[in-house]
Amino acid sequence: TTRHIAVIVGSLRKDSFTRKVAQSMIELAPTDLQMEIVEIRDLPLYNQDDETDTPPAAFTAFRDRIGQADGILFCTPEYNRSVPGALKNAIDVGSRPYGNAAYADKPCAIVSVSPGALGGFGANHHLRQMLPFLNMSCMPAPEAYVGNVAAKYDGERLVDESTRAFFQTFIDSFAGWVERHAK
Ligand code: FNR
Repeated sequence: TTRHIAVIVGSLRKDSFTRKVAQSMIELAPTDLQMEIVEIRDLPLYNQDDETDTPPAAFTAFRDRIGQADGILFCTPEYNRSVPGALKNAIDVGSRPYGNAAYADKPCAIVSVSPGALGGFGANHHLRQMLPFLNMSCMPAPEAYVGNVAAKYDGERLVDESTRAFFQTFIDSFAGWVERHAK
């Protein structure tokens, strides 16, 4: 069965390493896992006053995309030992209206990415902390802390073979996780 995965990239940067990692995951995914990046750059900052009968069109479009997905892959850089504000905003937008969160009941997984040695551990775990509140089942293992990422890419090309092998294991495991939680 084909499963549709919404990939959320926490960086808005044109040459984002996190986006490259997301792209690698998309390329390595098994064929029955259809993965597509859902952009977060045009979401207005969440304001509860906007939660009327006619919320901003960008909110509705984003919630629809998330709601239709069978699972979510979060790929995030680390900003100040946490998630970037743009990603937090996308989580907040998708979490409302209360009781009807687009994210609810979806299986998910987290990949944190950094040019530094710690692989975005802080961002990874701050994100992990939000997920029970959204009633999302986050794949516990394997964990993905992609450190020293600059050395692993030559332009868009993933050149580190052990990283490629790990990404393959990770995305195959995620496919299994999504299948286990499929409705
Ligand atoms: C960073 N960076 C960073 N890196 C890290 O490992 N831990 C951190 O806490 C931070 N904090 C941080 C804050 C802010 C505001 C910026 C702009 C950057 C560096 C960051 O990992 C680096 O810029 C990455 O290249 C960002 O990811 P993308 O855009 O390449 O995906």
